[in-house]
Amino acid sequence: MKVDGKDLRTIWLDPDEKTVKIIDQRRLPHELVLIDLETVDDAITAIKDMAVRGAPLIGATGAYGVYLATLNTPRHTIEDNFLMTECDRLKSARPTAVNLAWAVDSILAEVLKENQPDKRIATARDQAACITEQEVERCKKIGEHGLPLIDAIRRRKQGQTVNVLTHCNAGWLACIEHGTATAPIYAAFDQGIDLHVWVDETRPLNQGNRLTAWELGKHGVKHTIITDNAGGYLMQQGKVDIVIVGTDRTTATGDVANKIGTYLKALAARDNKIPFYVALPSSTFDWNLKDGIKEIPIEERDPDEIRYIDGRANGKNERVLICPAESAAANYAFDVTPSRLVTGFITERGICEATQEGIKRLFPEQF
Ligand code: MRU
Repeated sequence: MKVDGKDLRTIWLDPDEKTVKIIDQRRLPHELVLIDLETVDDAITAIKDMAVRGAPLIGATGAYGVYLATLNTPRHTIEDNFLMTECDRLKSARPTAVNLAWAVDSILAEVLKENQPDKRIATARDQAACITEQEVERCKKIGEHGLPLIDAIRRRKQGQTVNVLTHCNAGWLACIEHGTATAPIYAAFDQGIDLHVWVDETRPLNQGNRLTAWELGKHGVKHTIITDNAGGYLMQQGKVDIVIVGTDRTTATGDVANKIGTYLKALAARDNKIPFYVALPSSTFDWNLKDGIKEIPIEERDPDEIRYIDGRANGKNERVLICPAESAAANYAFDVTPSRLVTGFITERGICEATQEGIKRLFPEQF
């Protein structure tokens, strides 16, 4: 995507093939800073500390982490046990987004087919690049398939502004390019459709107001940041035409894990008869799960992410306590929206109903 006229992705392999470059998302929107990942531990830390975040990007970082694991160890140690241990460490960096395990396991399977250390390194590098490119292509297709939904609303509203509501950041920053929830938004904007995005701030880490607002602004998309609790009110006032969110893991039956608060948006959308779509690449389906509420692991993060807030004052980054120092806080990072509240999935193969039958129609080979 373009940032101040320059093409930028969220992750890439440096031409020296020793360093993986990422955008440090903790520093946005105030500073655009790149970080070098040189070891598998750098990749694990970047995922854990959320320098990279968002399901597809976590997957791509995990994939490059496998490459860095093979690269930075003596050739004779690149054996099966070593690889499997490093992959387990990568996969446990964050529990909810299934793209991480999917990407790491896909690469591991290919690397284990090779016996020579140099071939293992080259395979890990090539597979990481391949997974990254495939995710970009999937997100592009999500945009193409989602665009008609927005266009249909434009026609119904006879050219009046289309209002989209989104939660968290399922934009290009969460992916590599295009985004998932934002892919139809960018596609519609690039076609000249007049649209406006309500951006949930997304407490506690504010992926909405820090990241979604930043990337929409860089692309020129009209947007307004709202508190996480404002969406229901706006829906009642007829100010939301469609909700589009991303997901970190979706079951084969259509239950959707996404950033905490997504479920409440889905409930409000259903009550107000507003379509609620989930945009996802096939890498975010967990084909083995049937009951999202029982089976999807929900990450619990450091309570200090709730108790403190980061911001910018007098040109400096500041962290301030915003609650009684002695109060307990519980930081559940995701929730699960049952499939019955989801209008449909926007995937790289088209749009389907949020049911096992609907998903099977698009991805029959998984069933
Ligand atoms: O904790 P995060 O910021 O990694 O959570 C990200 C989200 O919940 C996104 O909405 C989701 O990953 C979809 S990203 C395309």
